[in-house]
Amino acid sequence: MKIILTGIQASGALHLGNYFGAMQPAIEKQNVPDWQPVYFIADYHALTSVTKPGDLRRYTVDAAASWLACGLDPARTILFRQSDVPQVHELAWLLSVVTPMGLLQRAHSYKDKIAQGADTTHGLFAYPVLMAADILLYNSDLVPVGKDQKQHLEMTRDIAQKFNDRFGPVFKLPEPFIGEATGIVPGIDGRKMSKSYDNGIPIFGDEKEIKKAVMSIKTDSTPIDQPKQIDGTLLGQLMQIVNPAAYPDFVAQAAKPGTGYGDLKKQLLTEIIARFQPFQEKYRHLQAHPDEVEAILRDGAARARTLAAPVLEKARRATGLSL
Ligand code: ADP
Ligand code: TRP
Repeated sequence: MKIILTGIQASGALHLGNYFGAMQPAIEKQNVPDWQPVYFIADYHALTSVTKPGDLRRYTVDAAASWLACGLDPARTILFRQSDVPQVHELAWLLSVVTPMGLLQRAHSYKDKIAQGADTTHGLFAYPVLMAADILLYNSDLVPVGKDQKQHLEMTRDIAQKFNDRFGPVFKLPEPFIGEATGIVPGIDGRKMSKSYDNGIPIFGDEKEIKKAVMSIKTDSTPIDQPKQIDGTLLGQLMQIVNPAAYPDFVAQAAKPGTGYGDLKKQLLTEIIARFQPFQEKYRHLQAHPDEVEAILRDGAARARTLAAPVLEKARRATGLSL
């Protein structure tokens, strides 16, 4: 059996970047025979940025409800809350003793967050070690993520290799799975779409919220009576990701004099709403029944602990902690 694993932080409403970068590829793979999908809500990681307890709880249930509404089948896929398997911290420690400081100092995401004014905490600095533990604790083979996580996956492989070199062959080296077209979904300001940049288009926002985001997508000032070259622009990229089949028409429409950016944004809005419409009912249901979400997370955690136990034991034995 092979393990496909990914995590999403409980740090805000999930957006198109999360969906196309990580969730859709992960959900598509859930029925491949001989593969066990293991997906989790990274609440420990979210604590590096979320400061209010009520927010963390709400974001966790919301992220789980979003996964389930988008098609995750909890009978097949293990869905759990990271903090329900605290054993991950024991493994994180075993990994941190082989992790060079220099490796962590080179982390782009750490440097970016500091550049944006985040506090320099040990949690933020050690974030990649906990992420490596998330992945290695389940003997993961494949990790679907957006391109922003590529370096974290390389660090995971480096850390696993260092552990194996010192203590013997305990860990498999996991492979990242990064979509060509959807590796980086741009946000409405042109930077990577992210919960922490406030530039996202939410999957499950109400229509007004989604409209506000779409209407704020950055465009140039080509006047309405001039043809617009939309290919490769922010608006074009988003349409191509949301509905590749409608993209050629969209480009042709933009090239007609008289089409304004407002019209093109409205078309994109219609496509986004249509794309996520089939998931809405389930999402609303789960929002109204958080106890159902909780039961699924608990069941997932029990299954995750069963997978994790022998791997952690093997690592403990290799280090000399266990007999
Ligand atoms: P955020 O940056 O919004 O806080 P997370 O860090 O929780 O999102 O990311 C969860 C998953 O979604 C990761 O696999 C990440 O690579 C992916 N992801 C996040 N934003 C994007 C994006 N803009 N494009 C593609 N994938 C993304
Ligand atoms: N660091 C990831 C992100 O911000 C979330 C995450 C935590 C993760 N642990 C993971 C992703 C393990 C994949 C595998 O997007």
